[in-house]
Amino acid sequence: MIIYSRISDTTTHIKQKRDEGSTIGFVPTMGALHEGHLELMRKAKKENDLLVVSIFVNPIQFNNQDDLKKYPRDLKKDSELLETVGCDILFAPTVDEMYPEKVTKKYDFGLLENVMEGASRPGHFNGVGVVVSKLFDICIPHKAYFGEKDYQQLAIIKKLVEIESIPVEIVPCPIVREVDGLAMSSRNERLTPNERASAPYIYEVLQDAKTTSEFLCTNRLKQYVLNQFSDRKEFEVEYFELADDKDLQPIKSHNPEKGTIGFIAVNLGKVRLIDNIRII
Ligand code: PAJ
Repeated sequence: MIIYSRISDTTTHIKQKRDEGSTIGFVPTMGALHEGHLELMRKAKKENDLLVVSIFVNPIQFNNQDDLKKYPRDLKKDSELLETVGCDILFAPTVDEMYPEKVTKKYDFGLLENVMEGASRPGHFNGVGVVVSKLFDICIPHKAYFGEKDYQQLAIIKKLVEIESIPVEIVPCPIVREVDGLAMSSRNERLTPNERASAPYIYEVLQDAKTTSEFLCTNRLKQYVLNQFSDRKEFEVEYFELADDKDLQPIKSHNPEKGTIGFIAVNLGKVRLIDNIRII
């Protein structure tokens, strides 16, 4: 694996590989790698000649400075994990390399950015759009891999590619979970042992919501989910929403013709966790 911190070195190398006829699979990350990330990489490696990964904790997508400061960083451990999945090129730039000037770009993602994560974290998706567009310019992938763990982010990336007319195929990948059901996340490292023991309850409730959706209308189902947390004081639910799987707008009633996802954001101690489940 070759590690670059410079944009020019990365692009020169990848351009040369493309000219030789190699296909490029790309997985952008913020590091603190876990099985969820590695699954994306295994798929990318299998489907392309070259696996390119980026690790960059992108400051402009954090609306909480404490979250940015505490975001886990361990490039040595990450590099070792990347070797195990056959990563060919790691791009790990500094903040100055990525943002030599103040970022002024403003995307219009339409309705997608006004709900759930967009509503809860102002500016977050603009920051994601700016960095991913830049990373696509630098790494010029044929295919780029994103997890359904961040389902709304995936929708934003598809929209970004459309807005900017970027010639890349976006490949969605299923959520990878711990054996107890907790969705893998770099933020899980920050849970205390007690919080970690409680955390699988989130997915239990989501599974319960899926089963119960057969019997309850959407409003009652939302209330039902919130009630499941009322005796569990360690959780503070930010939202539970039932939304269309394409435009992510809240649905008013179940429609078997339309895909529906249940989305949740929960604070557990100082850690904010998100998860989702397909309802229809
Ligand atoms: P990060 O949180 O590091 O996630 C990198 C990629 O891994 C994302 O596509 C995310 O959806 C995926 N991923 C994380 N946990 C997963 C899990 N349990 N199962 C499946 N996929 C999972 O998402 C970001 O970084 C950033 O916003 C980024 C796109 C890199 C832009 O800065």
